[in-house]
Amino acid sequence: MDITLSVIKADIGGYVGHSSSHPAVLEKAQEHLERAQREGLLIDFHVTRCGDDLELIMTHQHGEDNEKIHKLAWDTFMSCTEVARSLKLHGAGQDILSTAFSGNVKGMGPGVAEMQFVEREAETIIIFMADKTSAGAWNLPLYKMFADPFNTIGLVIAENMHSGFSFEVHDVLEHRKVTFHAPEEIYDLLVFIGAPGRYAVKGVYHRPTNEIAAVSSTQRLSLMAGRYVGKDDPVCIVRSQGQFPAVGEVLEPFTMPQLVEGWMRGSHHGPLMPVAVRDSNPSRFEGPPRVIAAGFQLASGKLVGPRDMFDDPGFDEARHQANEVAEYMRRHGPFEPHRLPLHDMEYTTMPQVMKKLEGRLTEL
Ligand code: 13P
Ligand code: MG
Ligand code: MG
Repeated sequence: MDITLSVIKADIGGYVGHSSSHPAVLEKAQEHLERAQREGLLIDFHVTRCGDDLELIMTHQHGEDNEKIHKLAWDTFMSCTEVARSLKLHGAGQDILSTAFSGNVKGMGPGVAEMQFVEREAETIIIFMADKTSAGAWNLPLYKMFADPFNTIGLVIAENMHSGFSFEVHDVLEHRKVTFHAPEEIYDLLVFIGAPGRYAVKGVYHRPTNEIAAVSSTQRLSLMAGRYVGKDDPVCIVRSQGQFPAVGEVLEPFTMPQLVEGWMRGSHHGPLMPVAVRDSNPSRFEGPPRVIAAGFQLASGKLVGPRDMFDDPGFDEARHQANEVAEYMRRHGPFEPHRLPLHDMEYTTMPQVMKKLEGRLTEL
């Protein structure tokens, strides 16, 4: 059975500040998607949130980039924004860069990850959603899942994974893409994806079948808006088991709270902390950045789940380590590398400060 899984997200207003989401917003989204399911557009859906980001998880049979599905997400975000406005939530409509829908939400603010596949006998899916970080944050975990035998023992001992995986990498500045084959091209791959601000893993494919294994949202809000509005807070869909990494191999990379950009005003590096959905309320200095994981089994497109995959004491040590790293990073105050390098600040306050100082900057 051919299924499309679409995960479309947007921050349409935070409660309180940027720390979390208001239940009334989630209810409104639920209403919209319920109606779409009744009308037969969706097979199934799940509405959730990571921090202040509203996440629409939808299954259907209309393929990727389908106008009706994107319009549904768009209309949902618009009426949730109205709810956010009525409650005067913080940054109501934050990620909605334009009000005129033109067939696809890409380029309009929301983040999108979609994949179409033939549902397997048992179709295990993990959907990762993050807050206070940017597209590209999935580079390191995706590399570990699909190319690092120290993370994924299946690459070594499972016959159906032994040929490796291909990584489709997008240059988000120049709008180019290139595909690398792991394991033989991992050094070339790492030159690119080790710079996640510019190169983001868009998709991962099984070799030699070319079956889709993972897909991520690569939309960069600041590049679309030309200024800082909020962070990308990206999503990533990963297929698991069988010819793909086991659930434990998919989750394992998050035991290392990698440093990502996006904390406080989108201008700081901080550790990515894996948490249960109920704990995705980044409050300390508006962070540290969070990642949640919703696990599902698909049954003819029905989303059986979610299981809250980081709701496991097995991740306590990662959370503890994230708090230690957060404390250490915070002690740098307004200094790099806690604060982002100048290049990235160009999308935050630097242009305004420079403008103010125009006339006062003189030649050495
Ligand atoms: P969000 O991108 O999650 O809205 O965070 C914005 C911010 O500035 C937090 O300090
Ligand atoms: Mg926000
Ligand atoms: Mg957010």
